[in-house]
Amino acid sequence: MKKLYIETLGCAMNVRDSEHMIAELNQKEPYELTERVEEADLIIINTCSVREKPVSKLFSEIGIFRKYKKASAKIGVTGCTASHLGRDIIKRAPIVDFVLGARNVSKLSTVIDKRHAVEVDIDHDDSSYAFGEYRTNPFKAMVNISMGCDKSCTYCIVPATRGDEISIPTDLIVGEIKKAVATGAKEIMLLGQNVNNYGKYFSSDQEKCNFTELLKRVSRINGLERIRFTSPHPFHMGDEFLTEFASNPKICKQIHVPLQSGSTSILKEMKRGYSKEWFINRCQKIRELCPEATISTDIIVGFPGESDKDFADTMDVLEQVRFEQLFSFKYSPRPLTAAAEYSNQIPNEIASARLTKLQARHTEIVDEIMNAQMDREHMVYFDELKPNGRVSGRSDDGKLFFVKGSEDLLGKIERVKVIKTSRGALDGELLMVNV
Ligand code: 5AD
Ligand code: SF4
Repeated sequence: MKKLYIETLGCAMNVRDSEHMIAELNQKEPYELTERVEEADLIIINTCSVREKPVSKLFSEIGIFRKYKKASAKIGVTGCTASHLGRDIIKRAPIVDFVLGARNVSKLSTVIDKRHAVEVDIDHDDSSYAFGEYRTNPFKAMVNISMGCDKSCTYCIVPATRGDEISIPTDLIVGEIKKAVATGAKEIMLLGQNVNNYGKYFSSDQEKCNFTELLKRVSRINGLERIRFTSPHPFHMGDEFLTEFASNPKICKQIHVPLQSGSTSILKEMKRGYSKEWFINRCQKIRELCPEATISTDIIVGFPGESDKDFADTMDVLEQVRFEQLFSFKYSPRPLTAAAEYSNQIPNEIASARLTKLQARHTEIVDEIMNAQMDREHMVYFDELKPNGRVSGRSDDGKLFFVKGSEDLLGKIERVKVIKTSRGALDGELLMVNV
């Protein structure tokens, strides 16, 4: 059997796209996955373009793969940087055999046999969400509910790489989830660039269905026990949606609310569509409706024109919301974005100092939150076998747990008591062993 080495950078969308590519390949000719580049017949680098770093890493990686790969092995570059740079990737690195954009995953089997094929169209095509079946982990399934993005945040390259927003028909989503549940998934992750804008754009006639209604429909699927989703947009967090989030017992109590900046004037420059007050109000609403929920966020520091006062607003939101998890980045000017042209770019040293300050304060907050977990009990869904007789899983609110156990625990939801805390994960002890 031929061997495939696939490297996935970027977000959950890309992780799912990699699964879709494996499914596409398998329909044509089965491949076995390998972690050793030197034995691969096909090497795929599924790229991200959201910041500059991973893009420059791509070309150094191609150089390394070139050195170690079998002479006959093909190299494909896929994903967001493929969409963005297209044929230029082959011009810069002729060793690359094909380039396939983030919106063109379903064309993998057509580009694979053509030397220097490039497919990077971002126009919509319904075949772009008809895929074969492949899942890395049978216990939890990722399911796309929309493609592309209808926003124009001025820092973000994604609308240019993933194209216009289209919601996938509700029946297709429900059908895919039922299939995943039938093969052992108790948990699903609904994926989209703006999940709570679901239902705004369908490519053909179908009954109207917004995200709250989709959540209700999905939660009626027998055998499905946990629903997660990423990413929602704060702008679309109306009361109806938050009430459904808080009251539907199948929806996991973990929500990503990407702040980006705490300053209303920077949010305006970013074209985010909400103010500092709206954001805080939405997080307060979540805490009020659902005190057990955890809130994660994304923050960019050093956006053009960000003053000390703007950054102080970001720190203030951090203090007020006390996010359980933070993904923070230095602003990176990206091609095809409005903010890259702004003249008031922030010096790197200032952005670095702000990032350090933000992360240091957040680390203190997380330590307090995690230390307070000692002796608490959670229902944990076990989905991965780890070395040294340990099994890992997640609590409903998204905390990573490790317990002693065997593969008998996989696919089970058990009550666990926290016996040791650390910043990133919790050690637990099973309270009732039904295995
Ligand atoms: N620079 C830095 N971070 C960015 N992100 C998106 N675009 C940029 C950029 N140009 C961050 C945002 C987004 C996350 C996926 O990446 O915080 O939510
Ligand atoms: Fe995901 Fe955005 Fe990176 Fe594309 S650019 S892989 S959508 S994070």
